[in-house]
Amino acid sequence: MTRVIGVVSGKGGVGKTTIASNLALALNEFNKRVMIIDTNLTTPNLGFHMGIPLYPKTFHDLLRGEAYPEEATYIHPSGVHVIPAGISLNDLKKTDPKNMDNVILDLVGDHDIILLDGAAGLGKEGMAGIKASDELLIVTNPELPAVTDALKAVKLAEETGTHILGVVLNKHNNVSSELTVSEVEALMGYPVISTISGDNQMQASLAAKTPLISYKPNSQASHEIKKLAGNLIGIDYQPPVQARTTGFFSKIFGFLKS
Ligand SMILES: Nc1ncnc2c1ncn2[C@@H]1O[C@H](COP(=O)(O)OP(=O)(O)O)[C@@H](O)[C@H]1O
Ligand SMILES: [Mg+2]
Repeated sequence: MTRVIGVVSGKGGVGKTTIASNLALALNEFNKRVMIIDTNLTTPNLGFHMGIPLYPKTFHDLLRGEAYPEEATYIHPSGVHVIPAGISLNDLKKTDPKNMDNVILDLVGDHDIILLDGAAGLGKEGMAGIKASDELLIVTNPELPAVTDALKAVKLAEETGTHILGVVLNKHNNVSSELTVSEVEALMGYPVISTISGDNQMQASLAAKTPLISYKPNSQASHEIKKLAGNLIGIDYQPPVQARTTGFFSKIFGFLKS
């Protein structure tokens, strides 16, 4: 059975698209058949993250009943199926998100997982995405504005009865100015199931139109995202020993050699 997993937040810029696009590739590496859809109708940008050229038919067209799913589906070189959203203002003006759950139901096909890259904010389209999801990942950052906004997404999910898988704490640098994991859990009332480090290669990966797990597969954030992907499908992903120990051993050997 296909699982529809929404990647949502309250505040924009917390990392939904980054996490959704990387998760899509990671789940694909775990041999899952994955589709990812840009449900951010107002300010879509999944296409930039995945390196997709301007696409003739988009999720906006599907919502308006003006395209067949195959026409709006781009096959990423990894094999992940991607439905980008239209980036023109006209697309936005002419499209009503209220049909989103039915349109997504039609896309279920033979995918194991459909990831929804969530809307900015919690207006009509944000609500439609939450309603269209079976399960949700709530993305936030370790700071109060992001957490208080994420809490609104949680409340909406509880009202619609959408199952919350947990909180993904992104841009987590473990510094004293940040909220701690237990503080975030206490505020949100849900467990933090993943922490993802702030990674200064993220911007370079965006410029290269290649999600981090392909761009820098051995970075800490890449391993953390793969761990989260594994967690979603019951696989206990462990980073390769070399990746975990390189820093440690090179420091020791560097010390011994000096
Ligand atoms: N773990 C991270 N470390 C560093 N930068 C990040 C991280 N996650 C996201 N970003 C950056 O934050 C910005 C917003 O991310 P994005 O995924 O577009 O957020 P959203 O989809 O929630 O609006 C982008 O510039 C992205 O590269
Ligand atoms: Mg986004």
